[in-house]
Amino acid sequence: MSQHDIGLVGLAVMGQNLVLNMANNGFSVAVYNRTTDTTDKFVGGLKDEPADKVHAGTTDRIKGYHTLEEFVGSLKAPRRVMIMVKAGAPVDGVIEQLKPLLSPGDIIIDGGNSDYADTNRRDADIKAAGLRFIGTGVSGGEEGALKGPSIMPGGHVEAWPFVKDIFQKISAKVGPNNDIPCCDWVGEAGAGHYVKMVHNGIEYGDMQLICEAYFILKNTLGLTNDELYKVFKSWNEGELESYLIEISRDIFTVKDKESGEYLVDMILDTAGQKGTGKWMSQHALDLGVPTTLITEAVYARCLSAQKDARVRASAVLKGPADAKFTGDKTQFIEDVRQALYASKLCSYAQGYVQLDAAAKEFKWKLNNGNIALLWRGGCIIRSRFLGDIKAAFDKNPQLENLLLDDFFRAAIDKAQPSWRRVISTSVQLGLPIPVFSAALSYYDGYRNGRLPANLLQAQRDYFGAHTYERTDKPRGQMSHTDWIRERNLT
Ligand code: 6PG
Repeated sequence: MSQHDIGLVGLAVMGQNLVLNMANNGFSVAVYNRTTDTTDKFVGGLKDEPADKVHAGTTDRIKGYHTLEEFVGSLKAPRRVMIMVKAGAPVDGVIEQLKPLLSPGDIIIDGGNSDYADTNRRDADIKAAGLRFIGTGVSGGEEGALKGPSIMPGGHVEAWPFVKDIFQKISAKVGPNNDIPCCDWVGEAGAGHYVKMVHNGIEYGDMQLICEAYFILKNTLGLTNDELYKVFKSWNEGELESYLIEISRDIFTVKDKESGEYLVDMILDTAGQKGTGKWMSQHALDLGVPTTLITEAVYARCLSAQKDARVRASAVLKGPADAKFTGDKTQFIEDVRQALYASKLCSYAQGYVQLDAAAKEFKWKLNNGNIALLWRGGCIIRSRFLGDIKAAFDKNPQLENLLLDDFFRAAIDKAQPSWRRVISTSVQLGLPIPVFSAALSYYDGYRNGRLPANLLQAQRDYFGAHTYERTDKPRGQMSHTDWIRERNLT
Protein backbone atom coordinates (compact mmCIF):
# COMPACT_ATOMS: atom_id res chain seq x y z
CA MET A 1 0.00 0.00 0.00
CA SER A 2 2.56 2.60 -1.07
CA GLN A 3 0.41 4.97 -3.07
CA HIS A 4 -2.27 6.63 -1.01
CA ASP A 5 -4.97 8.85 -2.49
CA ILE A 6 -4.54 11.47 0.20
CA GLY A 7 -2.62 12.10 3.41
CA LEU A 8 -3.91 13.74 6.58
CA VAL A 9 -1.84 15.46 9.23
CA GLY A 10 -3.38 15.98 12.68
CA LEU A 11 -5.26 13.19 14.38
CA ALA A 12 -7.49 15.04 16.83
CA VAL A 13 -11.08 13.88 16.64
CA MET A 14 -12.03 15.92 13.52
CA GLY A 15 -8.95 14.62 11.71
CA GLN A 16 -9.59 11.02 12.75
CA ASN A 17 -13.21 11.14 11.65
CA LEU A 18 -12.36 12.69 8.29
CA VAL A 19 -9.83 9.92 7.72
CA LEU A 20 -12.46 7.31 8.52
CA ASN A 21 -14.99 9.03 6.26
CA MET A 22 -12.50 9.04 3.37
CA ALA A 23 -11.52 5.42 3.92
CA ASN A 24 -15.16 4.37 4.36
CA ASN A 25 -15.74 5.92 0.95
CA GLY A 26 -13.02 3.77 -0.61
CA PHE A 27 -10.05 6.17 -0.54
CA SER A 28 -6.68 5.09 0.71
CA VAL A 29 -5.35 7.47 3.38
CA ALA A 30 -1.91 8.02 4.90
CA VAL A 31 -1.98 9.54 8.37
CA TYR A 32 0.58 11.43 10.40
CA ASN A 33 0.50 13.03 13.82
CA ARG A 34 3.34 14.86 15.56
CA THR A 35 2.88 12.62 18.60
CA THR A 36 3.46 9.22 17.03
CA ASP A 37 1.72 7.44 19.86
CA THR A 38 -1.57 9.07 18.76
CA THR A 39 -1.05 7.68 15.27
CA ASP A 40 -0.35 4.19 16.57
CA LYS A 41 -3.33 4.23 18.91
CA PHE A 42 -5.65 5.45 16.17
CA VAL A 43 -4.52 2.94 13.55
CA GLY A 44 -4.18 0.11 16.06
CA GLY A 45 -7.64 0.77 17.49
CA LEU A 46 -9.48 0.65 14.16
CA LYS A 47 -10.14 -3.08 14.41
CA ASP A 48 -12.08 -2.54 17.64
CA GLU A 49 -14.39 0.14 16.28
CA PRO A 50 -18.03 -0.67 15.48
CA ALA A 51 -18.97 -1.46 11.89
CA ASP A 52 -21.01 1.71 11.44
CA LYS A 53 -17.88 3.73 12.19
CA VAL A 54 -15.24 1.64 10.45
CA HIS A 55 -16.71 -0.10 7.42
CA ALA A 56 -15.49 -3.38 5.96
CA GLY A 57 -12.14 -2.87 4.27
CA THR A 58 -11.55 0.56 5.81
CA THR A 59 -8.78 -0.60 8.15
CA ASP A 60 -6.73 -1.78 5.16
CA ARG A 61 -7.04 1.62 3.52
CA ILE A 62 -5.50 3.58 6.43
CA LYS A 63 -1.79 3.53 7.20
CA GLY A 64 0.09 5.50 9.83
CA TYR A 65 3.57 6.99 9.35
CA HIS A 66 6.02 8.18 11.97
CA THR A 67 7.95 10.64 9.82
CA LEU A 68 6.69 13.29 7.44
CA GLU A 69 9.24 12.08 4.84
CA GLU A 70 7.73 8.58 4.74
CA PHE A 71 4.23 10.01 4.90
CA VAL A 72 4.78 12.34 1.94
CA GLY A 73 6.63 9.62 0.05
CA SER A 74 3.62 7.34 0.29
CA LEU A 75 1.27 9.63 -1.63
CA LYS A 76 0.17 9.52 -5.26
CA ALA A 77 1.14 12.48 -7.42
CA PRO A 78 0.08 15.19 -7.34
CA ARG A 79 0.27 14.68 -3.61
CA ARG A 80 -2.72 15.80 -1.58
CA VAL A 81 -1.99 16.60 2.05
CA MET A 82 -4.80 17.73 4.31
CA ILE A 83 -3.85 19.51 7.52
CA MET A 84 -6.24 19.25 10.49
CA VAL A 85 -4.34 20.98 13.28
CA LYS A 86 -5.20 23.90 15.56
CA ALA A 87 -5.71 27.16 13.66
CA GLY A 88 -2.90 29.72 13.74
CA ALA A 89 0.82 29.06 14.17
CA PRO A 90 0.50 25.23 14.16
CA VAL A 91 -0.82 25.37 10.57
CA ASP A 92 2.13 27.49 9.45
CA GLY A 93 4.46 25.10 11.26
CA VAL A 94 3.15 22.06 9.35
CA ILE A 95 3.19 23.94 6.02
CA GLU A 96 6.83 24.91 6.54
CA GLN A 97 7.73 21.30 7.33
CA LEU A 98 5.88 20.04 4.26
CA LYS A 99 7.20 22.55 1.73
CA PRO A 100 10.67 21.03 1.24
CA LEU A 101 9.20 17.54 1.00
CA LEU A 102 6.64 18.31 -1.70
CA SER A 103 7.07 18.71 -5.47
CA PRO A 104 5.71 21.40 -7.79
CA GLY A 105 1.97 21.01 -8.27
CA ASP A 106 1.41 19.09 -5.02
CA ILE A 107 -1.56 20.28 -2.99
CA ILE A 108 -1.72 21.40 0.63
CA ILE A 109 -5.22 21.56 2.09
CA ASP A 110 -5.92 23.34 5.36
CA GLY A 111 -9.20 21.99 6.77
CA GLY A 112 -9.10 23.72 10.17
CA ASN A 113 -11.05 26.76 11.34
CA SER A 114 -8.38 29.13 10.04
CA ASP A 115 -8.72 32.87 9.93
CA TYR A 116 -9.43 33.80 6.29
CA ALA A 117 -6.70 36.47 6.45
CA ASP A 118 -4.14 33.74 7.26
CA THR A 119 -5.54 31.74 4.35
CA ASN A 120 -5.15 34.74 2.02
CA ARG A 121 -1.51 34.99 3.10
CA ARG A 122 -0.82 31.24 2.83
CA ASP A 123 -2.47 31.15 -0.58
CA ALA A 124 0.11 33.63 -1.90
CA ASP A 125 3.08 32.05 -0.05
CA ILE A 126 2.30 28.55 -1.22
CA LYS A 127 1.79 29.69 -4.81
CA ALA A 128 5.20 31.38 -4.63
CA ALA A 129 6.66 28.05 -3.50
CA GLY A 130 5.31 26.37 -6.66
CA LEU A 131 2.75 24.36 -4.73
CA ARG A 132 -1.04 24.48 -4.75
CA PHE A 133 -3.24 25.37 -1.83
CA ILE A 134 -6.80 24.88 -0.69
CA GLY A 135 -8.16 26.46 2.50
CA THR A 136 -11.40 24.74 3.29
CA GLY A 137 -14.11 25.17 5.86
CA VAL A 138 -15.37 21.89 7.28
CA SER A 139 -18.50 21.98 9.38
CA GLY A 140 -20.60 19.41 11.17
CA GLY A 141 -18.65 18.61 14.29
CA GLU A 142 -17.34 15.13 15.03
CA GLU A 143 -20.34 13.30 13.67
CA GLY A 144 -20.43 15.39 10.50
CA ALA A 145 -16.75 14.73 9.86
CA LEU A 146 -17.43 11.00 10.09
CA LYS A 147 -20.73 10.74 8.25
CA GLY A 148 -20.78 13.72 5.90
CA PRO A 149 -19.75 17.28 6.68
CA SER A 150 -20.44 20.46 4.78
CA ILE A 151 -17.21 21.38 2.99
CA MET A 152 -16.39 24.91 1.78
CA PRO A 153 -13.16 24.89 -0.26
CA GLY A 154 -11.36 27.93 -1.63
CA GLY A 155 -7.86 28.78 -2.84
CA HIS A 156 -6.08 27.71 -6.02
CA VAL A 157 -8.87 26.72 -8.39
CA GLU A 158 -6.48 24.57 -10.46
CA ALA A 159 -6.15 22.27 -7.42
CA TRP A 160 -9.90 21.72 -7.19
CA PRO A 161 -10.22 18.96 -9.86
CA PHE A 162 -7.73 16.87 -7.87
CA VAL A 163 -9.71 16.95 -4.63
CA LYS A 164 -13.26 17.36 -5.93
CA ASP A 165 -14.04 13.66 -6.09
CA ILE A 166 -12.81 12.91 -2.58
CA PHE A 167 -14.47 15.95 -1.01
CA GLN A 168 -17.81 15.56 -2.75
CA LYS A 169 -17.93 11.83 -1.92
CA ILE A 170 -17.30 12.38 1.79
CA SER A 171 -19.59 15.41 2.13
CA ALA A 172 -23.21 15.47 3.27
CA LYS A 173 -25.82 15.05 0.53
CA VAL A 174 -29.17 16.79 0.14
CA GLY A 175 -31.99 16.94 -2.39
CA PRO A 176 -34.92 14.66 -3.18
CA ASN A 177 -32.59 11.81 -4.15
CA ASN A 178 -30.02 12.63 -1.50
CA ASP A 179 -27.33 13.02 -4.14
CA ILE A 180 -26.46 16.75 -4.19
CA PRO A 181 -23.17 17.18 -2.31
CA CYS A 182 -22.87 19.93 0.30
CA CYS A 183 -19.47 20.72 -1.12
CA ASP A 184 -18.53 22.88 -4.06
CA TRP A 185 -15.83 25.32 -5.00
CA VAL A 186 -16.35 28.61 -3.19
CA GLY A 187 -13.76 30.97 -4.61
CA GLU A 188 -10.18 32.17 -4.58
CA ALA A 189 -7.71 32.54 -1.70
CA GLY A 190 -9.44 32.76 1.69
CA ALA A 191 -13.00 32.59 0.28
CA GLY A 192 -13.65 29.10 1.66
CA HIS A 193 -12.54 30.00 5.15
CA TYR A 194 -14.43 33.29 4.92
CA VAL A 195 -17.63 31.42 4.12
CA LYS A 196 -16.93 29.06 7.02
CA MET A 197 -16.40 32.06 9.31
CA VAL A 198 -19.76 33.48 8.21
CA HIS A 199 -21.29 30.06 8.80
CA ASN A 200 -19.93 30.14 12.34
CA GLY A 201 -21.11 33.71 12.91
CA ILE A 202 -24.59 32.70 11.79
CA GLU A 203 -24.26 29.68 14.07
CA TYR A 204 -23.62 32.09 16.99
CA GLY A 205 -26.72 34.09 15.99
CA ASP A 206 -28.94 31.02 15.64
CA MET A 207 -27.76 29.60 18.97
CA GLN A 208 -28.28 32.85 20.86
CA LEU A 209 -31.74 33.32 19.32
CA ILE A 210 -32.71 29.83 20.44
CA CYS A 211 -31.34 30.59 23.90
CA GLU A 212 -33.35 33.80 24.10
CA ALA A 213 -36.52 31.97 23.00
CA TYR A 214 -35.83 29.39 25.72
CA PHE A 215 -35.24 32.10 28.31
CA ILE A 216 -38.47 33.88 27.42
CA LEU A 217 -40.54 30.69 27.53
CA LYS A 218 -38.97 29.61 30.79
CA ASN A 219 -39.21 32.96 32.54
CA THR A 220 -42.50 34.36 31.29
CA LEU A 221 -44.55 31.17 31.08
CA GLY A 222 -42.59 29.05 33.50
CA LEU A 223 -42.35 26.13 31.05
CA THR A 224 -40.73 23.01 32.44
CA ASN A 225 -38.09 21.05 30.53
CA ASP A 226 -40.76 18.52 29.56
CA GLU A 227 -42.90 21.30 28.16
CA LEU A 228 -39.92 22.92 26.44
CA TYR A 229 -39.14 19.56 24.84
CA LYS A 230 -42.69 19.43 23.43
CA VAL A 231 -42.53 23.01 22.15
CA PHE A 232 -39.17 22.46 20.43
CA LYS A 233 -40.38 19.16 19.04
CA SER A 234 -43.33 20.84 17.37
CA TRP A 235 -41.13 23.72 16.16
CA ASN A 236 -38.81 21.20 14.56
CA GLU A 237 -41.72 19.84 12.55
CA GLY A 238 -42.35 23.19 10.85
CA GLU A 239 -40.46 26.02 9.17
CA LEU A 240 -37.89 26.17 12.01
CA GLU A 241 -36.75 22.60 11.34
CA SER A 242 -33.00 22.60 11.85
CA TYR A 243 -30.16 20.77 13.50
CA LEU A 244 -29.85 23.36 16.27
CA ILE A 245 -33.56 23.21 17.19
CA GLU A 246 -33.33 19.42 17.10
CA ILE A 247 -30.38 19.19 19.48
CA SER A 248 -31.91 21.80 21.79
CA ARG A 249 -35.09 19.69 21.88
CA ASP A 250 -33.04 16.64 22.84
CA ILE A 251 -31.06 18.53 25.48
CA PHE A 252 -34.29 19.14 27.44
CA THR A 253 -34.67 15.38 27.93
CA VAL A 254 -31.28 14.61 29.47
CA LYS A 255 -31.04 13.95 33.21
CA ASP A 256 -27.87 14.50 35.21
CA LYS A 257 -26.54 11.22 36.57
CA GLU A 258 -25.06 12.88 39.66
CA SER A 259 -27.96 15.00 40.89
CA GLY A 260 -30.94 13.43 39.14
CA GLU A 261 -31.92 16.92 37.91
CA TYR A 262 -32.17 17.93 34.29
CA LEU A 263 -28.59 18.39 33.10
CA VAL A 264 -29.31 21.68 31.33
CA ASP A 265 -30.24 23.21 34.70
CA MET A 266 -26.97 22.05 36.24
CA ILE A 267 -24.78 23.78 33.65
CA LEU A 268 -23.14 27.06 34.62
CA ASP A 269 -24.42 29.94 32.47
CA THR A 270 -21.04 31.07 31.13
CA ALA A 271 -20.50 30.63 27.39
CA GLY A 272 -17.18 29.74 25.79
CA GLN A 273 -16.02 30.76 22.34
CA LYS A 274 -13.12 29.99 20.09
CA GLY A 275 -13.28 33.20 18.09
CA THR A 276 -14.81 32.67 14.67
CA GLY A 277 -17.96 34.65 15.56
CA LYS A 278 -15.77 37.47 16.83
CA TRP A 279 -13.72 37.44 13.61
CA MET A 280 -16.89 37.87 11.60
CA SER A 281 -17.97 40.85 13.71
CA GLN A 282 -14.52 42.40 13.52
CA HIS A 283 -14.53 42.18 9.76
CA ALA A 284 -18.10 43.49 9.57
CA LEU A 285 -16.83 46.62 11.30
CA ASP A 286 -13.92 46.87 8.87
CA LEU A 287 -16.28 46.52 5.93
CA GLY A 288 -18.81 48.95 7.45
CA VAL A 289 -21.72 46.52 7.21
CA PRO A 290 -24.25 46.17 10.04
CA THR A 291 -23.93 42.55 11.15
CA THR A 292 -25.63 43.44 14.38
CA LEU A 293 -27.16 40.10 15.35
CA ILE A 294 -23.92 38.21 15.24
CA THR A 295 -22.06 40.94 17.09
CA GLU A 296 -24.76 40.98 19.77
CA ALA A 297 -24.52 37.19 19.96
CA VAL A 298 -20.78 37.49 20.60
CA TYR A 299 -21.41 40.13 23.27
CA ALA A 300 -24.09 37.94 24.85
CA ARG A 301 -21.44 35.26 25.31
CA CYS A 302 -19.08 37.87 26.78
CA LEU A 303 -21.72 39.09 29.25
CA SER A 304 -22.55 35.52 30.21
CA ALA A 305 -18.88 34.92 30.95
CA GLN A 306 -18.90 37.77 33.52
CA LYS A 307 -20.70 35.45 35.89
CA ASP A 308 -19.28 36.73 39.16
CA ALA A 309 -19.91 40.36 38.25
CA ARG A 310 -23.49 39.52 37.26
CA VAL A 311 -24.12 37.68 40.49
CA ARG A 312 -22.83 40.70 42.45
CA ALA A 313 -24.94 43.09 40.37
CA SER A 314 -28.04 40.92 40.74
CA ALA A 315 -28.05 41.65 44.46
CA VAL A 316 -28.15 45.39 43.82
CA LEU A 317 -29.78 46.26 40.50
CA LYS A 318 -33.53 46.03 40.18
CA GLY A 319 -35.81 45.41 37.21
CA PRO A 320 -39.61 45.49 36.89
CA ALA A 321 -41.26 44.34 40.11
CA ASP A 322 -43.75 41.94 38.60
CA ALA A 323 -42.21 39.71 35.95
CA LYS A 324 -45.24 37.52 35.33
CA PHE A 325 -46.95 37.09 32.00
CA THR A 326 -50.73 37.16 32.15
CA GLY A 327 -51.82 36.72 28.52
CA ASP A 328 -52.73 33.72 26.37
CA LYS A 329 -50.04 31.08 26.86
CA THR A 330 -50.60 29.12 23.63
CA GLN A 331 -50.65 32.30 21.56
CA PHE A 332 -47.46 33.53 23.22
CA ILE A 333 -45.59 30.30 22.44
CA GLU A 334 -46.60 30.76 18.81
CA ASP A 335 -45.50 34.42 19.00
CA VAL A 336 -42.06 33.31 20.21
CA ARG A 337 -41.83 30.85 17.33
CA GLN A 338 -42.67 33.59 14.82
CA ALA A 339 -40.24 36.00 16.48
CA LEU A 340 -37.50 33.41 16.27
CA TYR A 341 -38.18 32.82 12.60
CA ALA A 342 -38.24 36.52 11.69
CA SER A 343 -35.10 37.25 13.72
CA LYS A 344 -33.28 34.33 12.15
CA LEU A 345 -34.12 35.68 8.73
CA CYS A 346 -32.57 39.05 9.66
CA SER A 347 -29.44 37.25 10.79
CA TYR A 348 -29.03 35.42 7.49
CA ALA A 349 -29.86 38.60 5.57
CA GLN A 350 -27.01 40.34 7.40
CA GLY A 351 -24.66 37.41 6.86
CA TYR A 352 -25.24 37.50 3.12
CA VAL A 353 -24.83 41.28 3.00
CA GLN A 354 -21.44 40.78 4.64
CA LEU A 355 -20.55 38.04 2.17
CA ASP A 356 -21.40 40.40 -0.72
CA ALA A 357 -19.27 43.15 0.81
CA ALA A 358 -16.34 40.77 1.35
CA ALA A 359 -16.63 39.44 -2.20
CA LYS A 360 -16.36 43.02 -3.44
CA GLU A 361 -13.45 43.80 -1.15
CA PHE A 362 -11.42 40.72 -2.11
CA LYS A 363 -12.70 40.45 -5.71
CA TRP A 364 -14.15 37.00 -5.11
CA LYS A 365 -17.04 35.73 -7.19
CA LEU A 366 -19.21 34.16 -4.53
CA ASN A 367 -22.39 32.35 -5.51
CA ASN A 368 -24.87 32.98 -2.72
CA GLY A 369 -27.29 30.27 -3.82
CA ASN A 370 -24.51 27.68 -3.88
CA ILE A 371 -23.36 28.77 -0.44
CA ALA A 372 -26.91 28.18 0.86
CA LEU A 373 -26.75 24.72 -0.67
CA LEU A 374 -23.40 23.98 1.02
CA TRP A 375 -25.05 24.87 4.33
CA ARG A 376 -28.28 22.98 3.56
CA GLY A 377 -26.86 19.74 4.98
CA GLY A 378 -23.98 18.45 7.08
CA CYS A 379 -23.14 21.64 8.93
CA ILE A 380 -24.24 23.02 12.29
CA ILE A 381 -26.67 25.58 10.78
CA ARG A 382 -28.30 23.07 8.43
CA SER A 383 -32.02 23.66 8.15
CA ARG A 384 -35.09 23.58 5.99
CA PHE A 385 -34.86 27.37 5.87
CA LEU A 386 -31.61 27.20 3.85
CA GLY A 387 -33.57 25.50 1.07
CA ASP A 388 -35.79 28.60 0.93
CA ILE A 389 -32.71 30.83 0.87
CA LYS A 390 -31.30 28.81 -2.02
CA ALA A 391 -34.63 29.24 -3.84
CA ALA A 392 -34.53 33.01 -3.23
CA PHE A 393 -31.06 33.32 -4.78
CA ASP A 394 -32.01 30.98 -7.63
CA LYS A 395 -34.92 33.31 -8.41
CA ASN A 396 -32.67 36.36 -8.24
CA PRO A 397 -28.91 35.77 -8.01
CA GLN A 398 -28.40 39.54 -7.55
CA LEU A 399 -30.82 39.76 -4.61
CA GLU A 400 -29.59 42.73 -2.56
CA ASN A 401 -31.00 41.55 0.74
CA LEU A 402 -32.89 38.38 1.64
CA LEU A 403 -35.56 40.51 3.32
CA LEU A 404 -36.56 41.75 -0.14
CA ASP A 405 -37.37 38.29 -1.51
CA ASP A 406 -41.14 37.80 -1.99
CA PHE A 407 -41.30 34.59 0.01
CA PHE A 408 -39.43 36.06 2.97
CA ARG A 409 -41.28 39.39 2.75
CA ALA A 410 -44.54 37.52 3.15
CA ALA A 411 -43.07 35.50 6.04
CA ILE A 412 -41.99 38.67 7.84
CA ASP A 413 -45.37 40.30 7.26
CA LYS A 414 -47.00 37.32 8.87
CA ALA A 415 -44.54 37.17 11.77
CA GLN A 416 -44.37 40.88 12.50
CA PRO A 417 -47.19 41.31 15.04
CA SER A 418 -45.88 38.30 17.02
CA TRP A 419 -42.30 39.51 16.76
CA ARG A 420 -43.19 42.92 18.18
CA ARG A 421 -45.36 41.40 20.93
CA VAL A 422 -42.54 39.12 22.08
CA ILE A 423 -39.99 41.91 22.17
CA SER A 424 -42.22 44.43 23.91
CA THR A 425 -43.38 41.84 26.45
CA SER A 426 -39.81 40.79 27.20
CA VAL A 427 -38.70 44.39 27.60
CA GLN A 428 -41.65 45.11 29.91
CA LEU A 429 -40.81 42.08 32.00
CA GLY A 430 -37.11 42.91 32.12
CA LEU A 431 -35.76 39.92 30.19
CA PRO A 432 -32.51 40.41 28.26
CA ILE A 433 -33.08 39.70 24.56
CA PRO A 434 -30.14 41.38 22.80
CA VAL A 435 -30.37 39.42 19.56
CA PHE A 436 -34.15 39.45 19.19
CA SER A 437 -34.01 43.23 19.71
CA ALA A 438 -31.09 43.69 17.32
CA ALA A 439 -33.04 41.80 14.68
CA LEU A 440 -36.12 43.99 14.92
CA SER A 441 -34.07 47.20 15.08
CA TYR A 442 -32.23 46.13 11.95
CA TYR A 443 -35.50 45.40 10.20
CA ASP A 444 -37.00 48.73 11.24
CA GLY A 445 -33.82 50.57 10.29
CA TYR A 446 -33.41 48.86 6.94
CA ARG A 447 -37.02 49.49 5.90
CA ASN A 448 -36.83 53.14 6.89
CA GLY A 449 -36.12 55.55 4.04
CA ARG A 450 -35.10 58.28 6.46
CA LEU A 451 -33.11 57.71 9.63
CA PRO A 452 -31.96 60.31 12.18
CA ALA A 453 -28.48 60.49 10.66
CA ASN A 454 -29.38 63.99 9.36
CA LEU A 455 -29.04 65.24 12.93
CA LEU A 456 -25.87 63.22 13.38
CA GLN A 457 -24.33 64.85 10.32
CA ALA A 458 -25.35 68.26 11.64
CA GLN A 459 -23.62 67.46 14.95
CA ARG A 460 -20.45 66.36 13.15
CA ASP A 461 -20.46 69.49 11.06
CA TYR A 462 -21.15 71.67 14.12
CA PHE A 463 -18.21 70.48 16.18
CA GLY A 464 -15.78 69.34 13.52
CA ALA A 465 -16.71 70.98 10.19
CA HIS A 466 -17.07 67.46 8.79
CA THR A 467 -19.58 68.72 6.17
CA TYR A 468 -22.82 67.06 5.07
CA GLU A 469 -24.78 66.18 1.95
CA ARG A 470 -28.13 67.91 1.35
CA THR A 471 -31.47 66.41 0.37
CA ASP A 472 -31.78 68.91 -2.49
CA LYS A 473 -28.28 68.62 -3.97
CA PRO A 474 -26.56 65.78 -5.89
CA ARG A 475 -24.91 63.05 -3.80
CA GLY A 476 -21.28 63.73 -3.06
CA GLN A 477 -21.71 67.51 -3.07
CA MET A 478 -20.71 68.57 0.42
CA SER A 479 -22.00 71.57 2.37
CA HIS A 480 -20.85 73.22 5.55
CA THR A 481 -22.59 75.60 7.93
CA ASP A 482 -21.16 77.85 10.59
CA TRP A 483 -23.64 76.55 13.14
CA ILE A 484 -22.51 78.88 15.92
CA ARG A 485 -23.11 81.95 13.79
CA GLU A 486 -26.40 80.66 12.45
CA ARG A 487 -27.90 79.41 15.66
CA ASN A 488 -30.86 81.31 17.11
CA LEU A 489 -30.85 80.96 20.84
CA THR A 490 -33.68 82.52 22.80
C1 6PG B 1 -18.77 23.57 12.93
C2 6PG B 1 -18.57 24.31 14.21
C3 6PG B 1 -17.17 24.12 14.68
C4 6PG B 1 -16.95 24.45 16.13
C5 6PG B 1 -17.04 25.90 16.42
C6 6PG B 1 -17.38 26.17 17.86
O1 6PG B 1 -19.11 24.22 11.96
O2 6PG B 1 -18.61 22.35 12.92
O3 6PG B 1 -18.79 25.67 14.00
O4 6PG B 1 -16.35 24.80 13.80
O5 6PG B 1 -17.81 23.72 16.92
O6 6PG B 1 -15.79 26.44 16.13
O7 6PG B 1 -17.12 27.48 18.03
P1 6PG B 1 -17.12 28.20 19.41
O8 6PG B 1 -16.22 27.45 20.33
O9 6PG B 1 -16.59 29.56 19.09
O10 6PG B 1 -18.54 28.19 19.90
